[in-house]
Amino acid sequence: MAYTIVIFGASGDLTSRKLVPALYELFRKRRLDQPTRIVGFSRTAFGHEAWREELAESTLRFTGDRFDRVTWDAFAPSLFYHAGDIDRPEGIASLGKRLDELEASAPTTRVYYLATAPQFYRPAVTHLGMAGLAEQSRGPRRIVIEKPFGVDRASAGELNAVVHEVFSEPQVYRIDHYLGKETVQNLLVLRFANAIFEPIWNRYYVDHVEITAAEAMSVGHRGSYYERAGVLRDMFQNHLLQQLTLTAMEAPARFEADFIRDEKVKVLRAIRPMRPDEVAANTVRGQYRGYGDEPGVAAGSRTATFAAVKLPIDNWRWQGVPFYLRSGKAMSCPTTQIVIQFRQPPHMLFEGAARSAREANRLVIQIQPAEGIQLHFQTKVPDAGMQVRLTDLSFRFREKFSGAMPDAYQRLLLDVMHGDASLFARADEVELAWGIIDPIQSTWDERNEPELLVYDPGGWGPEESTQWMFYQGRQWFDACPVLS
Ligand code: BG6
Repeated sequence: MAYTIVIFGASGDLTSRKLVPALYELFRKRRLDQPTRIVGFSRTAFGHEAWREELAESTLRFTGDRFDRVTWDAFAPSLFYHAGDIDRPEGIASLGKRLDELEASAPTTRVYYLATAPQFYRPAVTHLGMAGLAEQSRGPRRIVIEKPFGVDRASAGELNAVVHEVFSEPQVYRIDHYLGKETVQNLLVLRFANAIFEPIWNRYYVDHVEITAAEAMSVGHRGSYYERAGVLRDMFQNHLLQQLTLTAMEAPARFEADFIRDEKVKVLRAIRPMRPDEVAANTVRGQYRGYGDEPGVAAGSRTATFAAVKLPIDNWRWQGVPFYLRSGKAMSCPTTQIVIQFRQPPHMLFEGAARSAREANRLVIQIQPAEGIQLHFQTKVPDAGMQVRLTDLSFRFREKFSGAMPDAYQRLLLDVMHGDASLFARADEVELAWGIIDPIQSTWDERNEPELLVYDPGGWGPEESTQWMFYQGRQWFDACPVLS
């Protein structure tokens, strides 16, 4: 089968930083079926050659020593550029003609990738529909929609309705790049390709679950976007809730898109949206000192750059086991990790054995950058009576497997081309996720509760977040991963 990938927003950051490097890497590894054409579309007046040269430079920058000029020169002829206005029906109609010429009427799978600013999603979809470009008589037509998919449940629902007027749900791929990360997928393998974890993966053995996505970087040049998003819309509605659903879901009967997504949706349904009067007690929000001075940020901005949220999952498996989600910019180190904190043994035999929850068994799933898994358990200190100490068994991808971890976009692009939607969010999933975030965001905005705390860059967020856990008899697992 031939493929055409049409990138809307071809002159943008995502195209040069992620999409084209990922396609180049797939080409280099001979994973792209031939012919695969990549057609860039945006308003900037470019010729094919100028676009190719610009992408050669950015791809070199983002792939480093995996870039070689000979391979690039073999790849570059599959890149084409078409200038046009997404906002005008005739812009997309002329793109359609160009695609027909390129494909020479051979059946071709077409992927329309919306890598534009979100305000262009609707006109793009509508104009694709008007030009008959979603019609599938000459091969499958698929659309990839980047985050943010709406800004709340209502707008996500409206966007879904617009999309469904033109594309049927199986043609739609809502992307969350976290699902393309090897370690996020490995969560399913850990849970469902091993027999030893599932029996203890429940309220009888687990005290709580902690999902942290900490970033050392500040908002930087993305201030004007971030002002409209804030940490809940930027990280929680998508990346953190995706990780939560994979951690909490039941085993799907088959490894197929709808079997997996049905199970994830059941988890989201089991999370009761917070009432406004519950938000102050169940969330912490903060803003790093200096955020107001970032370019594009309004002086006196009240946008949160840190949040911690406690979510209960009301089902048989997880009743009484809180899931703590936490993310922030300008924190001590970049680390994304899922911590399954187990309960204490029911009866402690050894004098002096620590009894805090912190000392109980713990499974740490390192999503990035030190991809791996550690199991923490008590062991006897030699030659010290019956003194015990927490130690760990550690697995690291880098030690067991050679080669760099592929960027998430490689897997996701291939999956779209091959029509596998397992790692993409379904319409109902996105709306349910917003339904969990909306009441928190609106209470923060309208009631101004809880207080917006200021934290110093380089730590683990506001000090109050540590106390908040402490009052619940728990402690965050604040550890920067060892990268060696
Ligand atoms: C993006 C957010 O979706 O994810 C960014 O908009 C964030 O603010 C990024 O930095 C994190 O992705 P990763 O893959 O670097 O963890």
